[in-house]
Amino acid sequence: MGLSADQAQKLLERAMEVRPRAHAPYSGFLVGAAVLGTDGRIFAGANVEVSSYSHTCCAERVAVFSAVSAGCVSLVGCAVVTDSTPPAPPCGACRQVLSDFSQDMELLLADLGGRVDRVLLADMLPRAFGPDDVLGKIRERRGGE
Ligand code: THU
Repeated sequence: MGLSADQAQKLLERAMEVRPRAHAPYSGFLVGAAVLGTDGRIFAGANVEVSSYSHTCCAERVAVFSAVSAGCVSLVGCAVVTDSTPPAPPCGACRQVLSDFSQDMELLLADLGGRVDRVLLADMLPRAFGPDDVLGKIRERRGGE
């Protein structure tokens, strides 16, 4: 696995730290996430629920969007902390978003009792759709113009 012990610890710390700031009045399910960029920067995010439930945003996507907004578009790791055992993995939508901004991302899935499962995003989203699938088509069209 790619992340060093130090990187893993820092990512987990940031995800733990942000988790209590989740805005989850409807589900009561607090999620903290933190992503590590190839430039070494870490961005954290917590889930944000809104009264019109479907507009809720998961912690992982809040973290990724924060990274991208700061110009960090290449990610190598993501920690997700919940109160679930076994530790909860990212939902399908978040797997897709994480995948768009990483090559070989490692996920650290943690509960509150010290359990950390380390998995590769590619194993959780095999044969992912990605930027090249769209950009290849666009380039083809442009070439034909
Ligand atoms: N949630 C996340 O933050 N990340 C996930 O990957 C799965 C679900 C949030 C969304 C919602 O606020 C709450 O958990 C319950 O689904």
